[in-house]
Amino acid sequence: MTGLCGQGNIKQCIHDHTMQTFYIETLGCQMNVLDSELASSALHRAGLQQTDAPVNADVILFNTCSVRQHAEEKVYSALGRLKNWKEEKPLGILGVLGCMAQKDQRRIFQRAPHVDFVLGPGRLDMLVETIEQLCNEKPQPTKTVCVSLSRIERPPLEVLESFRQYNPNRDNPQREYVSGTACGTPSLVRIVFGCDQFCSYCVVPFVRGPEQSRPPQDIANEVRHLAGRGVTQITLIGQTVNSYRYQTGEKKTRLADLLYQLSNIAGIEQIDFVTNYPLGIDNDLLQAVRDLPQVSKHLHIPAQSGSDAVLRRMNRHYTASQYREMVDRIYGTISGATLTSDFIVGFCGETEEDFELTVELVKYCRFRNSFIFKYSERSGTKAAELYTDDVPDEVKKYRNNRLLDIQIGISRQN
Ligand code: SAH
Ligand code: SF4
Ligand code: F3S
Repeated sequence: MTGLCGQGNIKQCIHDHTMQTFYIETLGCQMNVLDSELASSALHRAGLQQTDAPVNADVILFNTCSVRQHAEEKVYSALGRLKNWKEEKPLGILGVLGCMAQKDQRRIFQRAPHVDFVLGPGRLDMLVETIEQLCNEKPQPTKTVCVSLSRIERPPLEVLESFRQYNPNRDNPQREYVSGTACGTPSLVRIVFGCDQFCSYCVVPFVRGPEQSRPPQDIANEVRHLAGRGVTQITLIGQTVNSYRYQTGEKKTRLADLLYQLSNIAGIEQIDFVTNYPLGIDNDLLQAVRDLPQVSKHLHIPAQSGSDAVLRRMNRHYTASQYREMVDRIYGTISGATLTSDFIVGFCGETEEDFELTVELVKYCRFRNSFIFKYSERSGTKAAELYTDDVPDEVKKYRNNRLLDIQIGISRQN
């Protein structure tokens, strides 16, 4: 039996002293960093205090990532270690949030039966209510699954509605819960939810849902609000941030337009945006980056591979020479531009020649840094269905280290 996300009264549990504190651990990308901040703010508003010590917490949350197998294994081991906590604190609530919650859903209860609820990233708006409901059902709460619909099984509109955009206001009496106000790091501002690229190896389009751009007015209001609280640096985030587009009537707003709008907000001194998809780095965007002093001249644009055959199997829709042309255009337009990239080594069918083409691309582009990952097969993706994960792990490791050495050499010269 699994319950639905429901209503209840967290105040009663706080009043009974059965719930006072929460602990949240965050894995994965900046999407999760922001979601954890929003979740912490919501719990804080509901009356719970954050603690850094999981053993003392009444509610423990893992905000998880499923981009690679290794990330998931880390969560399952951490959950395993919490068996003792649950035995000692049977009224404690253990929840799995984030991308693994959406991907594995109730399978999480099979591997970690002491987990009380799983809640996907498209349902973060239900976090407080879900905890309230579990709290009301004590001492024997129903295992609860609160997730969005499957992109494969359900009609697009229903799916879209089930991946809800969660943009609560970020007012929080404890300033440290808002990134960018306390520790000098930028505040994260989401501008694009989800992803529609469907790179063959990647789970993100399934776990984060369809691409949705936020209205520019909402973004500007949030940035104004953050600036009012002393934030000077912001990072606009989206899995394909440069595909931002919002249309009302005849008026179309693209990322370049948004950068102009946000640069006008008093107090904002630095604007970054991640992650960029190589197609869609258009000249309007590059000119905005060049001309706006607030916008960082650093761009993160993952290439993934330098081999056209591999890029085709990855479903990336560009060739290595198109990527090179884009890099030439960037260096030619923005003086002092710096670039970083991501690469996957050992993708299905990657030969030594394919890998050498990646090495050549890295040398050509003179990245400031590259993040290199060994291919990890993800169930439910096209790559898992169509291709064999046939590059042995030692070869993946070797290619990872070799590419890293080459990148380190380039980074030192930069
Ligand atoms: N949206 C971003 C990044 C998403 S995930 C983009 O498209 O660039 C971050 C990085 O993880 C990716 O750039 C890719 O290099 C890596 N990655 C994604 N799926 C992977 C997989 N199945 N195995 C190994 N690395 C993967
Ligand atoms: Fe994944 Fe590709 Fe989307 Fe990036 S662009 S999140 S790699 S599907
Ligand atoms: Fe991981 Fe989800 Fe980000 S799978 S990389 S936390 S969008």
